[in-house]
Amino acid sequence: MASGCFITVEGGEGAGKTTQLEFMREYLEQAGCRMTLTREPGGTPLGEEIRALLLGHRHDSMALATETLLMFAARAEHLARVIRPALAAGRWVLCDRFTDATYAYQGGGRGLSPGRIAILEDWVQGGLRPDLTLVFDLPVAVGLERAGQRGAADRFEREEMAFFERVRAAYLDRARRNPDRYRIVDADRPIERVRAEVEAILAAWLECY
Ligand code: TMP
Repeated sequence: MASGCFITVEGGEGAGKTTQLEFMREYLEQAGCRMTLTREPGGTPLGEEIRALLLGHRHDSMALATETLLMFAARAEHLARVIRPALAAGRWVLCDRFTDATYAYQGGGRGLSPGRIAILEDWVQGGLRPDLTLVFDLPVAVGLERAGQRGAADRFEREEMAFFERVRAAYLDRARRNPDRYRIVDADRPIERVRAEVEAILAAWLECY
């Protein structure tokens, strides 16, 4: 059976990823793809427990190495139990964040060197990389305002503006350096306009896939 396709969705806080992911799933299902929709950190029972440690406030002053290794611990579990089996069965995997988030948040945001992250990426993923990555981009202030309306801030949402500016810059920098894999989507527009652009990207992708 042909291996499936691995699509990831990235962006800062309040970029509207969750809403657009549902539209993407619907669109691809209608195109005949068998879909697995999942998220990071999380996506497995153990991964969701790790997510609670990472996003909750019980360990607010967690060391950067600990935070990064926990992201990759959740990812190793996710790859072994969900992502690799789904791809091997010919399913399309649509993942809400993946290793680009580690480069953006732990790398850009917190200052961990990309070289360190690359070592973990190679170890945990081997040669596996997403086939297509959509980066939902919007001004930091707009995203934080939207995220603020969703209730209590998690451990990342409590960071200051400058942190999220660095996260945004890291995402854009990675995306611009590899236009074959990344598509930058302007998320500072009404939901339906963003949806139309995302569907156009998926249509083009399906055509040459
Ligand atoms: P979200 O998926 O609800 O946006 O929340 C996940 C949070 O975790 C978000 O603030 C980004 C952060 N994160 C990292 O810092 N590094 C990572 O590798 C991943 C996957 C997420």
